[in-house]
Amino acid sequence: MTIFETAVRPVLFRVGGGDAEKAHEFTLDRLAGLGAGTRSLLRRRYAVNAPVEVFGVRFPNPVGLAAGMDKNGVALPAWPALGFGFVEAGTVTAVPQPGNDRPRLFRLRDSEAVINRMGFNNEGAAALAARLAALGPLGIPLGISLGKSKVTPLEEAVQDYLTSYELLHPYADYIAVNVSSPNTPGLRTLQDKSAVAALLGALVGKTPVLVKIAPDLAEPAIAELLEVCLAYGAAGVIATNTTLGRDGLAAADRPRAGEAGGLSGRPLAERARKIVHFVHQETGGRLPIIGVGGIMDADDAARMFDAGASLIQLYTGFIYRGPALVRAAARARR
Ligand SMILES: Cc1cc2nc3c(=O)[nH]c(=O)nc-3n(C[C@H](O)[C@H](O)[C@H](O)COP(=O)(O)O)c2cc1C
Repeated sequence: MTIFETAVRPVLFRVGGGDAEKAHEFTLDRLAGLGAGTRSLLRRRYAVNAPVEVFGVRFPNPVGLAAGMDKNGVALPAWPALGFGFVEAGTVTAVPQPGNDRPRLFRLRDSEAVINRMGFNNEGAAALAARLAALGPLGIPLGISLGKSKVTPLEEAVQDYLTSYELLHPYADYIAVNVSSPNTPGLRTLQDKSAVAALLGALVGKTPVLVKIAPDLAEPAIAELLEVCLAYGAAGVIATNTTLGRDGLAAADRPRAGEAGGLSGRPLAERARKIVHFVHQETGGRLPIIGVGGIMDADDAARMFDAGASLIQLYTGFIYRGPALVRAAARARR
């Protein structure tokens, strides 16, 4: 057990009487408040130099922070100090929005999992652009994840993504097109061939664009989507988002299985890895993959790389294992 698991995690899991979103806000606040001195001490402990170049971008190591943790980019300088080789801010939307009602984030501890139905709560693309303009360069690559505003009808989705893209692409090393969150009604229909074609047709050009896919897609649908990604010049695929499935939960967590939302963490690992493998096989390695889903230890990281991922991302594993996982994962590529 690491110091994080024995001393830090128990404190965080008690914040707000065990309310997971309160713990999240508390953590982000603390990370945003770290001074340069503390960040450099952390960096000395956690940074791993394992450089890799993917879609023309150089990453100091292949382990990134997944989208959703720092949606508004409030704690960006903290992530490289905790060892991350890149960070994906967002998902942000063109129109600021509050997200779904609370509670909307649940820990399933025995399963090392989380269910969330946040619903893209975020301050909007313009607010993130202003923050990034004030912040200056981060020192590690920055991805920015874009989603559809809830108030925008699906037929106007392309323009909605484009509005965010125009505001944010100057600050991004890559743009992630999130069409796979289960928490915005209808969003996942944008994974259809024609919708992805329209989105990529509008967005591809100035900055590498990656498409983030759901783990609940069947292989034929993924194959179709990949054809479009290749034809329209996507820089890669991010696999995967959270699942609507509830397989693999520990008995103690089954009462929580009925909560609506996307499941992440350990129960997602095998499914996410299989999809990464499928994408790699199907494209013959022509489309770089960011593998994400249920990476809880160095072994999971190594297997994600083996399945064909060029880069990986962490979210739920970071909640349960802390920054030691980032370091271990960054050393895991075989
Ligand atoms: C609380 C929470 C919020 C999330 N928000 C987003 C988001 O805004 N955009 C996105 O693309 N993915 C989001 N995700 C999905 C993660 O980026 C990741 O794809 C997923 O959790 C699987 O990885 P993990 O098992 O390491 O958590 C969120 C996940 C969680 C747990």
